Amino acid sequence: TINGAYRVLVSDPMSEEGLAPLLKNENMECVQQNVDETNDLAEYDALLVRSGTTVTAELMDKMDRLKIIARAGVGVDNIDIDTATKRGIVVINAPDGNTISTAEHTFAMIISLARKVPQANASIKGGEWNRKAFQGTELRGKTLGIVGFGRIGSELAKRARGFDMSTVVYDPFLTKERAEKSGVRLAELEELFAEADIITVHTPLTKDTKGLLGMENINKTKKGVFLINCARGGIIDEEALKHYLENGHVAGAALDVFEEEPAQNNELLNFEQVISTPHIAASTKEAQLNVAAQVSEEVLQFLKGMPALNS
Ligand code: MLT
Repeated sequence: TINGAYRVLVSDPMSEEGLAPLLKNENMECVQQNVDETNDLAEYDALLVRSGTTVTAELMDKMDRLKIIARAGVGVDNIDIDTATKRGIVVINAPDGNTISTAEHTFAMIISLARKVPQANASIKGGEWNRKAFQGTELRGKTLGIVGFGRIGSELAKRARGFDMSTVVYDPFLTKERAEKSGVRLAELEELFAEADIITVHTPLTKDTKGLLGMENINKTKKGVFLINCARGGIIDEEALKHYLENGHVAGAALDVFEEEPAQNNELLNFEQVISTPHIAASTKEAQLNVAAQVSEEVLQFLKGMPALNS
């Protein structure tokens, strides 16, 4: 340590209140500044990021003293975990701080898609009063297909019940008993595709989930299906989605995440039946406070010599 203090670099915007445990600790020197603007990278013991910073082997090369990388959020796909592991750098995340926000945002997307809220909003603000163009679909009695039944998926199922929907889930790690306890039906992926009116994905992005909804699988879904992605860009293959939107098989899609972000020139945004938000499912006051506080506490404990919990 320099002058007895550990140095912590916070490279993406984070809740000040959540960072308080680090900011207030006299043994921690906490700098909030993007890695690209930091000249003394070699002087930091800990690095805190959201999804804006890509933690590559090259970056780690410049951070000789780095002991811990903390992701204030769930997905660690922006961190080269293999390299970190090889170098003995611990990687932690905040696995549950933004669960509710993400489930709520997903539900907002489902309702918005079913009732064409964003399209109607754009129309009325454009000076129109077009009541015919925005006939929607009721959610009651519809089947929601949830791919990935972890924290977010299960919170979503609770909300779906409130809307009198039935829920079918696919998750290779879920037991029938746990599914029954949660009031959902566990199914094979094929069954889910055949039954669901609305399909939403809640998995991490891995080699197994990349393109999970691609040319072949979207073809197995019901004609007129709605697809939702508030997890990670690429789980629904964008080229395949475009194809099935064009031929009308997919009636609409709601996307919070994209294969490439920021998604400014993405062709999917040109479809009237696609609604989207700029990766904000976890952007609430509550979630941002939770995730920043969770990782701050953990980094503090770790640098004090205690084992990391969410690694
Ligand atoms: C996450 O993985 O937690 C989300 O994508 C939210 C974020 O990027 O902050």
